Amino acid sequence: MDTAAADRPSATYDRIGLGYSDIRRPDPRLHVLIGQALGSVHTVVNVGAGTGSYEPEDADVTAVDPSQVMLDQHPGTKKVKAGAEALPFADGSFDAAMAILTVHHWPDLHRGLGELRRVARRQVVFTWDPTHRPELWLLEEYLPEIREMDHARLTPVAEVAEVLDAHTVTPFPIPYDFTDGFQCAYWRRPEFYLDSVIRQASSTFAQLPPSVVEPAIARLRADLDSGDWHRRHADLLGQQSVDYGYRLVIAGG
Ligand SMILES: C[S@@+](CC[C@H](N)C(=O)[O-])C[C@H]1O[C@@H](n2cnc3c(N)ncnc32)[C@H](O)[C@@H]1O
Repeated sequence: MDTAAADRPSATYDRIGLGYSDIRRPDPRLHVLIGQALGSVHTVVNVGAGTGSYEPEDADVTAVDPSQVMLDQHPGTKKVKAGAEALPFADGSFDAAMAILTVHHWPDLHRGLGELRRVARRQVVFTWDPTHRPELWLLEEYLPEIREMDHARLTPVAEVAEVLDAHTVTPFPIPYDFTDGFQCAYWRRPEFYLDSVIRQASSTFAQLPPSVVEPAIARLRADLDSGDWHRRHADLLGQQSVDYGYRLVIAGG
């Protein structure tokens, strides 16, 4: 692959996207919340659609993604290869636009959010706030490099809400048995982070070099074997969900 192609944002998912839906299974609780936020809609554009997680079953959905590897795994019939920054649709084409766990990949967030507002009357964005505390123990104790990466690519949720002129920002504490294997999904199941297949389904892990990830995971394995992790995190083991800064941002009518 030439350097310019490797730098394209879609290149990440063209590289890591295969097998995405095996690990990134949509969580039914988040699905309900997103459905409620979309409301009663006929036409929806799902920007950064990936394999189609969290799309409403009873609406006419157009999936947009710049990664062909992701679009090929999407089960829908209306699929468009494009980035959020230049949506190939006329103004007001859709009742709603959804963007789930994708805005941190957009090279020009403001332009992409502007496009969501241009093509749809309602916008529903699910993302997380890099400034939120508590942060996942994995970042604090094993991989501070993830924190650095997240700070570089994530925009504070307050700014996303402002650009969208949002009327609602809903916190989504992550349940302990969350099914969609993104970065924080396994906060109470630390042994899952030992599995390289699971790690590969999260873009953060997939973009860090093995020379950084492997020693950190070896330390986690040792702490799990010795019982140190469980001693340090006894408080977490009794919790049902934790707020790690994930937010559903809703704008428009
Ligand atoms: C973590 S996946 C989320 C997929 C899906 N929304 C979900 O909830 O499972 C991020 C998606 O954003 C897409 N993406 C990357 N750059 C993008 C851009 N500039 N515009 C729109 N989508 C983009 C990736 O190709 C990938 O499919």
